[in-house]
Amino acid sequence: MDNLTKPREQWGSRVGFLLAAVGSAVGLGNIWRFPSRVGAYGGAAYLFIYILIVALIGVTVMLAELTIGRKTQLNPVGAFRALSKKWAVVGYLGVIAGFVILSFYSVVGGWTIGYIVRSLTGAFAGDGVEMFMGLITNPIEPLIWHLVFMACTVGIVFFGVRSGIEKISKILMPALFIMLVLIIIRSLTLPGAGAGVAYYLRPDFSKVTLKTVVSAVGQAFFSLSLGMGAMITYGSYLKKDEDLIKSAAIIPALDTFIAFIAGLAILPAVFALGANPGEGAGLAFITLPGVFNAMPLGGFFGFLFFVLLFFAALTSAISLLEVVTAYTIDQWKWSRQKTTIVMGGVMFFIGVLCSLSYADGFGWLTFRLFGMELPLFDWLADWLGDLLLIVGALLTCIFIGWVWTVKSAAKEITHDGQKPFMLLGFWGFLIKFVCPLALVIVLLNFLKIIQF
Ligand code: PHE
Repeated sequence: MDNLTKPREQWGSRVGFLLAAVGSAVGLGNIWRFPSRVGAYGGAAYLFIYILIVALIGVTVMLAELTIGRKTQLNPVGAFRALSKKWAVVGYLGVIAGFVILSFYSVVGGWTIGYIVRSLTGAFAGDGVEMFMGLITNPIEPLIWHLVFMACTVGIVFFGVRSGIEKISKILMPALFIMLVLIIIRSLTLPGAGAGVAYYLRPDFSKVTLKTVVSAVGQAFFSLSLGMGAMITYGSYLKKDEDLIKSAAIIPALDTFIAFIAGLAILPAVFALGANPGEGAGLAFITLPGVFNAMPLGGFFGFLFFVLLFFAALTSAISLLEVVTAYTIDQWKWSRQKTTIVMGGVMFFIGVLCSLSYADGFGWLTFRLFGMELPLFDWLADWLGDLLLIVGALLTCIFIGWVWTVKSAAKEITHDGQKPFMLLGFWGFLIKFVCPLALVIVLLNFLKIIQF
């Protein structure tokens, strides 16, 4: 009950907010998914298209979410409801997405811990396939790491916006950056790395199809933490005089920069050691360990890489839990302590089922829907999570462009006309027409209604 009398928390400083928001954005999406997509979709051309999409669609939706959050100073459900009652459903989709994404995200976060422990105990050896399959098909071990990861997430969010999320982001984000720089130096000084750099930086547009574009849009939303209210929630803790336009430019710019240099760190090493860059999701957990084992000082760099991946995942996981937490605090009047433990527990449980769906002897967790047979993990990670983000982002754009109106949004963005917004007309055009159209195409392709 005490949270009824306490004023809503705010970020302690602008830098603190930016580091937390960049921390949310920079995660497994940048360091694990992005390089493997670049590898799978033909290198620099993908990179180029990705940057274009982030600049046009990502920045637009980022500004939209931050604006809704700061205007209402509420969680996603309360925020949409405050602006237009019926649209609360978009907020609910976001809260559901928080449950879905954090459940599997925490399992993958747990794998990073399992790999850190292996690199410390000298078990980080041999080819990556054996190590990875050994871990995920074991019914017990991944659950222990999943529990540790979820406990870390709950432990941070438990302490609130300023003394939990902001404080830890200020430590982990700079540390992550330093580790990434060290790994790049190691990677680029391997013999044969040049071919990887060339592949990464020389575009070959003959490889680009519509599928490349659709993949890049999905990747951009996941990577920027958009489409489920994470940025609405973080924006709701902003002070009224904070510059939203600058933040909406800085967060995607830093997120994309980190994805870019993660590619620079990983792909040259993969090339130098003759592995396949199109390895997909297995790149970080299967190909890279093999790469590390084959290079001088590989044990140390392997350790460094998985600590980095752990930090990146953790600062994203806390933003996922914070969406659900803000919702129960605002709407159900729960205390922060109660909600983090109870909701973290529920997510842990869903995650247990995800993890077990890869384990030996749990065939019943692999099932058929819509003509596809997948383990529960893949259903949530590759299907439901992405679907919710795409639908959420689409509805957010339609809501701002056509219901709440660009004019009302502009009033909040410019702080009642006190701050200039030179590109207002362009932003309005993007949010009313370009983004909804692009997202409808992506959605239809995702649901296999239109195939390219
Ligand atoms: N942006 C995070 C990443 O790249 C994932 C995430 C998605 C976090 C949605 C919050 C909300 O890993």
